Amino acid sequence: MSTRKVAFQHTIEYEVVNTSNLFHPQNWALLSVGKIEDARRFVVVDANVEKHHGAAIRAYFEYHHVDARFATFPGGEENKTLDHYLALAHELDLFPIHRRDEPIIAIGGGVLTDLVGFVAASHRRGVPYIKVPTTLMGYVDASIGIKTGFNFNGNKNRLGAFHAPQTVLLDKTLLKTLPRRHLLNGLCEIIKLAIIADAELFDLLELHGAECVGSRFQNAQSDITLDRAIAGMIKELEPNLFEEELARKVDFGHTFSYGLETRHEANLLHGEAVLLDILLSTLIARGRNLMTDDETSRVFRLTRELGFAIDASVLDPSLLCASLTERTYHRNGLQRVPMPRGIGDCAFLNDIHAAEIESAVKTLEDWMAKEYEVL
Ligand SMILES: NC(=O)c1ccc[n+]([C@@H]2O[C@H](COP(=O)([O-])OP(=O)(O)OC[C@H]3O[C@@H](n4cnc5c(N)ncnc54)[C@H](O)[C@@H]3O)[C@@H](O)[C@H]2O)c1
Repeated sequence: MSTRKVAFQHTIEYEVVNTSNLFHPQNWALLSVGKIEDARRFVVVDANVEKHHGAAIRAYFEYHHVDARFATFPGGEENKTLDHYLALAHELDLFPIHRRDEPIIAIGGGVLTDLVGFVAASHRRGVPYIKVPTTLMGYVDASIGIKTGFNFNGNKNRLGAFHAPQTVLLDKTLLKTLPRRHLLNGLCEIIKLAIIADAELFDLLELHGAECVGSRFQNAQSDITLDRAIAGMIKELEPNLFEEELARKVDFGHTFSYGLETRHEANLLHGEAVLLDILLSTLIARGRNLMTDDETSRVFRLTRELGFAIDASVLDPSLLCASLTERTYHRNGLQRVPMPRGIGDCAFLNDIHAAEIESAVKTLEDWMAKEYEVL
């Protein structure tokens, strides 16, 4: 027997840039990476974003004499499919771009940036791409990391790859047209981060969260909240971009939600499923004395004050247990469930059992019945 060792290290570097008036011809951010002379760009735009900004986006590339091919993609979880992946891959193949200096540009919500990210990851085994998130979910979460993919075989994000963008361009004014339900959907990921890792962010949400939603995240408090949330997300993701460590704080709210959003895809958005998981997990944590009654009440009070409509009827304990089992496979045989330890800190549990889940569901249902009465 003889052995030859092959080892290679690859540095990942990309920027998350705050900008404004992204589609104004004088803003160079969209062309800040890649070549600009005699250049091409494959640009995928969410259909709802197209309605509001399609003309400005086209005018931008015309102004800069960039030969751009546009593809419109309908957002929504139901479109995060193999068929849509293949359709985009096909369109891209008809518009050959340089392999290194003509990045694909993905402008849309988390569904679009995940799917287009995987098109970029797989085309010629990897071409560069830029993410422009247009939903709050994308802005604070989906665009920040390097995960790409689509749903397959009834499983969320079953096919995908880690593929870093060249740059992420954040223009919060794009959130102005986002429906309230989708603003709240993204807010769930901010709440997640606050509970598990950042007590000051939680304070900010208690003080100003409702105003931020009211202003569609355009007021000064929103800048502070969004900056803090994104900085917190980067702090969690950066040392573990490829998820070598499977016990991840940012997976808080992503254990029971997996089964919920898979079964109820038509009615439950990703963040809404995450919020249900956060509430259940908070109750489990209280049962383990990881959360005091007061801390538990703060979590529930915040969700009430931010105006979430919570549907507890989807909380089928057997589905939640099956979701935990599935996530245990995903986490390589251990539950590794992040749980709040007070507000702003985290513990990982590996021994959650069915009775605990049933008891948490019952308490949550009672709480709902009392219509958001403080516990
Ligand atoms: N890669 C990651 O790390 C990561 C992290 C979190 C979530 N995600 C994924 O993100 C997805 C959810 O993302 P999402 O909530 O953005 O969903 P989405 O992309 O479906 O967008 C939600 C809706 O908003 C519309 N929309 C988008 N931008 C708009 C705008 N500016 N104005 C008006 N309407 C607009 C879309 O057309 C769609 O109808 C899930 O599939 C989830 O798995 C990925």
